[in-house]
Amino acid sequence: MQNRIKNKNIVLGVCGGIAAYKSVELLRLLKKHGANVRVIMTSNARKFVGQLTFEALSGQPVCTDIFEKNDCAPIRHIDWAREADAVVIAPATANITGKLANGIADDMLSTFMLAVTSPVIFCPSMNTHMYENKAVRRNLERLRTDGYFIMEPETGKLACGTAGPGRLPEPTDILDRVLSSLMPKDLKGKRLLVTAGPTRELIDPVRFISNPSSGKMGYSIARAAEHRGGAVVLITGPVNLPDPLNVNMIHVRTAEEMASAVFKHMKRSDIIIKAAAVSDYRPVTSSKRKMKKGKDEMVLALQKNQDILKKLGRKKENRTLVGFAAETENLEKNARKKLAEKNLDIIAGNIIGRPSSGFGTDTNKVTLFYKNGSKESLPKMEKDALAHILLDRIVELMAS
Ligand code: CTP
Repeated sequence: MQNRIKNKNIVLGVCGGIAAYKSVELLRLLKKHGANVRVIMTSNARKFVGQLTFEALSGQPVCTDIFEKNDCAPIRHIDWAREADAVVIAPATANITGKLANGIADDMLSTFMLAVTSPVIFCPSMNTHMYENKAVRRNLERLRTDGYFIMEPETGKLACGTAGPGRLPEPTDILDRVLSSLMPKDLKGKRLLVTAGPTRELIDPVRFISNPSSGKMGYSIARAAEHRGGAVVLITGPVNLPDPLNVNMIHVRTAEEMASAVFKHMKRSDIIIKAAAVSDYRPVTSSKRKMKKGKDEMVLALQKNQDILKKLGRKKENRTLVGFAAETENLEKNARKKLAEKNLDIIAGNIIGRPSSGFGTDTNKVTLFYKNGSKESLPKMEKDALAHILLDRIVELMAS
């Protein structure tokens, strides 16, 4: 499930808008993730970006004219449509929006689109007034009803000088929607609560106790679950990561804030995955003012934070509960102890302090320990891939 875009056939349709330069970056990202990308440009698109750029980056001839004769069969639009796993049109102009909403096929891109049966990610980008024009709104609505995924443009200052909606979303966000379109929706109807990142326990306004958790594991799980159709709430400590798309974000700082957010959302969750590195202790007092230095030695009194996951375990009912155990030694013994004490279904244990796993890295190497006593040692892998394996196991567990 994790290599969901590798070797997939993606067709990228590029129309004549100033944002066409961003499609070059989108193509690069799709290729970087292993997709086989074919590009169709409208004749106006070629006025904005060179065909050669797309050809060089995709490694394939770019299609612009339905009647041109090069490598391709005369019915290339049909072949490409049949072979496509997903189609993304970025930027989509008012012109292509109008044509597709009305079934008009008068060039390569519009003719190809009528033959497409795969998911379509349609990214309108144009001047704000054009975007807000009633005919364009009507056409977009019709395409939405026809099953296209319409990716709303971003709001900001546009190349034409106006400010408002109309800007093409960032290529990374478009890539995210392409990835999502390729996923089976096996978490549809499920509500997930995920926690991520560290907590910060304030000593004074400028100092805190924390840990180096980057939040990457929890964010990967939230993103993967959303891609698979789940309704996701992500409660996160302070991290330096962009919010995953279409996820209900709750930003917290301290363990106490995380606890109250978790308990507020717990009842509405079917699956809870606690990837956060919660601080076990907080200072007994937190000074409102910056503490001034004084004696050579200073003792900081700490008090225990409540164990959020343990409390969730006591009120488990029929929820699926998953925890993480970061250990420096005795992984199996410690992880199994936490699995039992916190009444979990699965615990993902990893040894921290190694370059390939744990805090801050893009990869992780974990062993999954299950409630029924079994375990599964997974090889080192990207956190995105691990997130999908964990979700696979949760889906299997819920079905058993
Ligand atoms: N956890 C939690 N609340 C806490 C501490 C931990 O919900 N106050 C959760 C973490 O999110 C993780 C799991 O419990 O899913 C295990 O966390 P970990 O820090 O490895 O273990 P602790 O239970 O804190 O035990 P110790 O620090 O002694 O290893």
